[in-house]
Amino acid sequence: MADEKQEQRRAHFADDPAAGPLTTDQGVTVDHTDDSLQAGERGPTLMEDFHFREKLTRFDHERIPERVVHARGAGAYGYFQPYESCAEFTRAAFLQDPGVQTPVFVRFSTVQGPRGSADTVRDVRGFATKFYTSEGNYDLVGNNMPVFFIQDGIKFPDFVHAVKMEPHNEIPTGASAHDTLWDFVSLQPETLHMMMWLMSDRAIPRSYRMMQGFGVHTFRFVTAAGKGTFVKFHWKPKLGVHSLVWDEAQETMGRDPDYNRRDLWDMIEAGEYPEYELGVQLVPEEDEHSFDFDLLDATKIIPEELVPVRPIGRMVLNRNPDNFFAETEQVAFHTANVVPGIDFTNDPLLQARNFSYLDTQLIRLGGPNFPQLPVNRPLAAVRNNQRDGYHQSRIHQGTSYSPNSLGGGCPALAGADESAFRHLTERVDGQKIRKRSPSFTDHYTQAALFWHSMADWEQQHIIDAFRFELGKVNAKQVRERTIGELAHIDHSLAVKVAEGIGVPAPESTGTPRPTPSPALSFENLKGDGSI
Ligand code: HEM
Repeated sequence: MADEKQEQRRAHFADDPAAGPLTTDQGVTVDHTDDSLQAGERGPTLMEDFHFREKLTRFDHERIPERVVHARGAGAYGYFQPYESCAEFTRAAFLQDPGVQTPVFVRFSTVQGPRGSADTVRDVRGFATKFYTSEGNYDLVGNNMPVFFIQDGIKFPDFVHAVKMEPHNEIPTGASAHDTLWDFVSLQPETLHMMMWLMSDRAIPRSYRMMQGFGVHTFRFVTAAGKGTFVKFHWKPKLGVHSLVWDEAQETMGRDPDYNRRDLWDMIEAGEYPEYELGVQLVPEEDEHSFDFDLLDATKIIPEELVPVRPIGRMVLNRNPDNFFAETEQVAFHTANVVPGIDFTNDPLLQARNFSYLDTQLIRLGGPNFPQLPVNRPLAAVRNNQRDGYHQSRIHQGTSYSPNSLGGGCPALAGADESAFRHLTERVDGQKIRKRSPSFTDHYTQAALFWHSMADWEQQHIIDAFRFELGKVNAKQVRERTIGELAHIDHSLAVKVAEGIGVPAPESTGTPRPTPSPALSFENLKGDGSI
């Protein structure tokens, strides 16, 4: 099965340019492409030179919008193979048979910088995988850090506006050191856990081959019998996790801005195929409320001491794309691309993502037919009543509606069919409120857990990173407020960073630390979400 995607792609390969002379888009042979047609030796260029007009028009339209985030990336094809059947937890077909390889396409990316920025910036890295399964495409759209900056996707535009280049001068590109980011961070302490990861060496991976990946959210596995289990996804690189050090990263930015993507390409060409193990943390539905954080909060990890990671399969990347634009640029990942056996939770960040990706791709890829592009096309058959739209490349025959007594049209499966996707049956009721469970307000416990899990030298790198980044912030109140927030995580961290950036050290834990969430027993939750 692993080569099926390759075969499908071949059908889309453009004609071999060496097979004959140059033609226009209409297939008319061209005898001259260097001089435009003009009226006399020194006369004006003539509009009737259709080859000249077509050549320039096509060039003028080569660019499409870059991704609003994760604009710079590198991709590769490969396969995924489970170690054993996961039928006990999920009916997903690609997780059943250790003899079956499922083709994948993976795109690694930086988040903040534009397409032309450097690879080795301090940033989160995207790790997005498209599984071309026999039951349709499944996208695991993750990052190389297990938590996220915000808890609710409604804040995403604010967060990204603060992170991206500043609107008046488009500075900085590719680095995270500027006032707006730190202003946002210091005013939204839910960002702090992720900021600790961002200031750590995890944010400057040595190679995409040496980087972990995380689905971040709690998702759900669903069995054939309809039983759900909460699941967190982890990718672990076979080569181990390795980072650059900051001075090296900065030097590399100048010497080779393509450092990470060149490494990925060269190693695949050399047959040194990147390999990752997929692991899962599984939480039975009954244990949903047994933690002192909420499984729906994407700023929290499930500590591995509480729920170990269980390896379930491996992924090998063994083929470079043939064309960057057609494949790496036009690939469209979407958290809502799930297959039977995988489902969502009510994580408000995930729910927002489930809206946002398709929405942005409709503009980025010019309309609704981008799933027909070779890199996005499922291997599973596509039959439905969608039609028309920009860039329609299929010729649909007959009518396209259902129910339909005149022939044509595609009916939905009858209820009894087992192969269809079914959303997990879940009871949902509640009042319409804009409020989460109380543990969503504990922004410090896990940030402190991360800090205390670091070796001395790792802590020093984090202190240095804070000094480097925060030290460049012009607004004094932003620097001071951030130090105040760091004091809630660890007083000595705050003091050491403050010393390096000319801010008075906080006396103790700064402003009174907000009450950490009580070890929540969700049975105590009242209907309005309070306890
Ligand atoms: C793109 C990961 C949160 C909106 C991406 C990509 C990754 C990613 C890996 C690049 C996909 C590619 O290579 O093409 C994540 C993770 C998140 C997160 C792990 C949090 C856990 C969000 C949120 C939103 C969002 C909350 C919006 C509500 C987008 C958009 C793109 C994107 C609009 C560009 C997609 C495209 O143009 O194809 N994200 N993201 N992301 N993300 Fe997220």
